[in-house]
Amino acid sequence: PAAEKAGAQQIPVNYDEAKVPPYTLPDLLTTKSGRQITSRKQWESHRPELIRLFSEHVYGKMPTQPVRLRYETTSVDLNALNGTAIRKQISVFFADYPQLPPMNILLYVPKGTTQPVPVFVSMNFQGNHSVSTDPGITLSTRWLPNLGAGKVVNHQATEAARGMQDRRWPVPMILARGYALATVYYGDVEPDHPDGWKTGIRSVLSPPAGPDSWGAIGAWAWGMSRMLDYLETDPAVNARKAVLVGHSRIGKATLWAGALDSRFAAVVSNDSGEGGTALARRWYGETIEHLNTQFPYWFCPQYKAYNKNPNALPVDQHQLLALIAPRPLYVASAVEDQWADPKGEFLGAKATEPVYQLYSKTGLGMSEHPAVNQPVGQTVRYHMRTGVHDVTNYDWEQYLKFADELVK
Ligand code: GCU
Repeated sequence: PAAEKAGAQQIPVNYDEAKVPPYTLPDLLTTKSGRQITSRKQWESHRPELIRLFSEHVYGKMPTQPVRLRYETTSVDLNALNGTAIRKQISVFFADYPQLPPMNILLYVPKGTTQPVPVFVSMNFQGNHSVSTDPGITLSTRWLPNLGAGKVVNHQATEAARGMQDRRWPVPMILARGYALATVYYGDVEPDHPDGWKTGIRSVLSPPAGPDSWGAIGAWAWGMSRMLDYLETDPAVNARKAVLVGHSRIGKATLWAGALDSRFAAVVSNDSGEGGTALARRWYGETIEHLNTQFPYWFCPQYKAYNKNPNALPVDQHQLLALIAPRPLYVASAVEDQWADPKGEFLGAKATEPVYQLYSKTGLGMSEHPAVNQPVGQTVRYHMRTGVHDVTNYDWEQYLKFADELVK
């Protein structure tokens, strides 16, 4: 990944379960003033307090002003992907800020459907053209991470960059199962480097100022909701059945977007680790200090106050996950992705149980960390697949099954 700063190597990393110090999580069903939550109604009136705490201490405050969007469909192909799909590309312009480039949506809808279809909504790391070799996808002209050995040169895509991440995007499989896929390059909202905000949405909406200013993660989450704004206007998709999916740093943003925007019907967080599904209080793998050292622009400045002391953070990540309830949530880990702390991700998912119970739903419904490649859970699901930090067909197969059972 781009612009990863040196210096984080000096911060100790623990990979020894025996060395994880004991910790106490903030109780999900106790308000800041010590009141016990025993009903859905009380939980729902507590939600704004939690969102405020995550805004002030972790992700920063989201801008509240409405933003006028103008949609321009730049291409439609009724016979994409060998005639199996309709491919649309839509530029979302920020009407009040003509200096900003648009956010470009790539939308695939399966052909031959008569009803609006449920849709997976997911940002990508390398430009829409990286998702598929489909030659009709417009090559991104934005700043891109220099990945893929010569495919991106001086942060600009070359023709060779087409499909460079298609392994992570089984588009035909998703369409064959009756889902649409909407994706946006996350750098359209903010390029992922320390100066990225200067050309992104944060340059015009709440630019960095105080300790609770939003960071890049907040900006990406904001963009996800703008994707949904567009999808609500497109008759080909059923925006009430939008499953928000994200990997890693985008998986962190996905959780924040899902917590804030209850229009998302379900949320999938793949290998999101620290600042995502992993518990901050567990000293294992990446820590808040690593995050803030390598990526000082991702979170709010106040988050740095917890670099050395996550126990002082007034929230932990299970509370973020619980803000998704009662909607379905999928948390995924990979066994070789110890940096993301698979066990901490599992424990974060498990700790949401009491809130799902308030809605008479079973969250995970089990307490042992499952063996590899053994998906578990009910309304909250979890798996730890074999292999490294990545998104694989195995992961997508589980998400499709989850969406079939709980969203479709
Ligand atoms: C780094 C970072 C993680 C992040 C990951 C990614 O490893 O430390 O927090 O999730 O990049 O986005 O791939």
